[in-house]
Amino acid sequence: MAAVPPGCQTALDVGCGEGALARQLARLVPHVVGIDHDAASIDLARRQDPDGGIGFIHGDFLTHPFTPESFDMITSVAVLHHMDARAALDRMSQLLAPGGTLVIVGLARSQLPADLPWEAAAILAHWGCKLTRTYWEQPSPVVWRRCTPTRKCTPLPGRHCQACSTGATRCGATH
Ligand SMILES: C[S@@+](CC[C@H](N)C(=O)[O-])C[C@H]1O[C@@H](n2cnc3c(N)ncnc32)[C@H](O)[C@@H]1O
Repeated sequence: MAAVPPGCQTALDVGCGEGALARQLARLVPHVVGIDHDAASIDLARRQDPDGGIGFIHGDFLTHPFTPESFDMITSVAVLHHMDARAALDRMSQLLAPGGTLVIVGLARSQLPADLPWEAAAILAHWGCKLTRTYWEQPSPVVWRRCTPTRKCTPLPGRHCQACSTGATRCGATH
């Protein structure tokens, strides 16, 4: 929250998941929008914002028709690795108002074997936390099943088709 610039009026959280960061931003920023292409996540986000003060959008950040230069701040936590990073950064720079603030928390690709000690420490810490603390997991799929031109649409169980956005859990089409 310390990164929110003074006088910030509009903020966009890219890949907002169930909206935890968007809700925090909304305490400081009058107009907050969160976008995510996982329907289940956006549904949870909307349910946790009963007043509807935050604009939660179910859609693809790369193609949603936002107005250029319309956000004073754009945030993105653990999302960039899901997209083509260059396309996502280009889009963020188009949507950011001049002088705006971009905050990205990303996941770095491991450089093996140099990062092996860090990887081992992270695995131990992860399991330690899992065993001793309350465990929260973001609701969107970890692996996205893509529909290809030759494959029948078989989204992950309980998820709608990401390619055709029919909202169906299994649209049955060949994309
Ligand atoms: C690891 S989760 C992180 C969620 C949230 N930022 C958090 O920190 O809890 C990545 C999120 O990015 C979303 N996402 C990935 N690609 C996207 C895209 N092109 N447009 C919108 N959302 C996207 C996924 O649906 C997922 O909810």
